[in-house]
Amino acid sequence: MQKMKYYCAGIVFLAGVAPLSVGAQEKTTGAQVSSSGQHAHDKEIVTFTDERAPIVLNEAERAFLKREMRGFLAGVQEILEAAAAGDGRRVAGAARNVGMNGPEQDHIPKSLAPKLPLEFKKLGLATHRGFDEIAAAASAGAADRISQQVGVVMRNCVACHGAWRIVVEGAK
Ligand code: HEC
Repeated sequence: MQKMKYYCAGIVFLAGVAPLSVGAQEKTTGAQVSSSGQHAHDKEIVTFTDERAPIVLNEAERAFLKREMRGFLAGVQEILEAAAAGDGRRVAGAARNVGMNGPEQDHIPKSLAPKLPLEFKKLGLATHRGFDEIAAAASAGAADRISQQVGVVMRNCVACHGAWRIVVEGAK
């Protein structure tokens, strides 16, 4: 019953947030709603449209960006696991890998930057810099603050994902 209440609250929250959203804010995707909806009242499933602002990219640019994103996800996973194990060196290595000078830097398509809104680029840079700060803190032995720092850096993930989506050039 406890669990049920949680899901119900989630639905009310999603439904309540939608009308308040402004501009590029994402309302929510159908997938998100139905995955929680399945466990709660099926009646309450509401379909939403994806209202995030589109960024038009070609296939190669999108592939790069999504690859970078999966790197972020893997980075967060490894950082948290290593932090929980008290392994500061591994935290630092994983964080540096998704920092400003990570391996992805050598693969950025030259055509990409001009297509990205300034605010998007700022959020992306803040994310990479945030991981460098985590690497520095871990190297300095401040492992106790890692999960808190990850939480702060991940505000960028949440903000950016809420505002933009990728559309491939020529696709509908
Ligand atoms: C500057 C904007 C921005 C930031 C910051 C950002 N993302 Fe993303 N991310 C995107 C966009 C845009 C997509 C594609 C969304 C779409 O088209 O529906 C995406 C997609 C993803 C995907 C799906 C990848 C795939 O293969 O489909 C993952 C996973 C992801 N992001 C993880 C993260 C994590 C974790 C962080 C933070 C550490 C993060 N992202 C930060 C913009 C961002």
